[in-house]
Amino acid sequence: EWTMENFIDLEVEKIRANVGDRRVLCALSGGVDSSVTAMLVHRAIGDQLTCMFIDHGLLRKNEGTRVMEMFEGKFDIDVVKIDAAERFLTKLKGVSDPEQKRKIIGNEFIYIFEEESSKLENMDFLAQGTLYTDVIESGTATAQTIKSHHNVGGLPEDMKLDLIEPLNTLFKDEVRELGTELGLPENFVWRQPFPGPGLGIRVLGEITEEKLAIVRESDVVLHDVLEKAGLDKEIWQFFTALPDMRSVGVMGDNRTYDYTVGVRAVTSTDGMTSDWARIPHDVLEKISTRIVNEVPQVNRVVYDITSKPPSTIEWE
Ligand code: XMP
Repeated sequence: EWTMENFIDLEVEKIRANVGDRRVLCALSGGVDSSVTAMLVHRAIGDQLTCMFIDHGLLRKNEGTRVMEMFEGKFDIDVVKIDAAERFLTKLKGVSDPEQKRKIIGNEFIYIFEEESSKLENMDFLAQGTLYTDVIESGTATAQTIKSHHNVGGLPEDMKLDLIEPLNTLFKDEVRELGTELGLPENFVWRQPFPGPGLGIRVLGEITEEKLAIVRESDVVLHDVLEKAGLDKEIWQFFTALPDMRSVGVMGDNRTYDYTVGVRAVTSTDGMTSDWARIPHDVLEKISTRIVNEVPQVNRVVYDITSKPPSTIEWE
């Protein structure tokens, strides 16, 4: 009989037999798939697992701390955190083309992952959260997750790590169930999808610290308003984006010339198609008032009312 408990027992056995007394590396992104993978492998082999969490400086507010507190703090999993914000932002300076930005972020990610993992001794395996759907889509399962998340061709050939992909027979909903069974909190298991290039594709055009800060702060406000309105669970994905433009406003006796924040909130079942969420007008009003009041340098808020297709969920 197939039950989640049996699945865990079986996979734990398989991982133990496969790994023996060797070491496993896991790239933690903060997303559901890599988190559940880390939890399962940790259940099997404990401190023979080391996770690596690369902060590319394009994360949401407090995301780095949240991930570290959860895995290292709460679950006592060994996590190496790499603060690489400066490296990424330097590489991205002056770049405004979306695909170019994706390519730079993806390549830099793989480069740093390779560089940092080579410093860890005796790593023999790479664990990753490839799902059944990833396997069907690609036909093979070679370093698929990191690849697709970061829009790159693949991990370097000479990274001689054997793959462990314990989720590759599961669908997303089963992964969530597994995560719950392994003790991950509900709000972690039900996280919204977050793109590998992160806020790098939510700051439209050239990325600067100033623009990143505006996206981060406005996103926190959006989150807070939707949570208080009880709408955060029924919306598939919501976030703010910062167009590369300013517009005129008025504050007191003065004219302002500041940024416009775009609010995106969509309903969907798989991210392939989506519709804009019918957020009640009074909640939209709160979102707008609070963002303008609480986030410096913003004097206008717009709500995106296009479906996918013809739009995409992200703005870049
Ligand atoms: P779009 O914008 O294409 O997004 O409608 C569909 C889903 O994919 C996410 N997304 C990405 N995820 N790397 C990722 O790992 C990317 O470059 C990327 N671009 C979009 C998006 O957040 C949505 O959930």
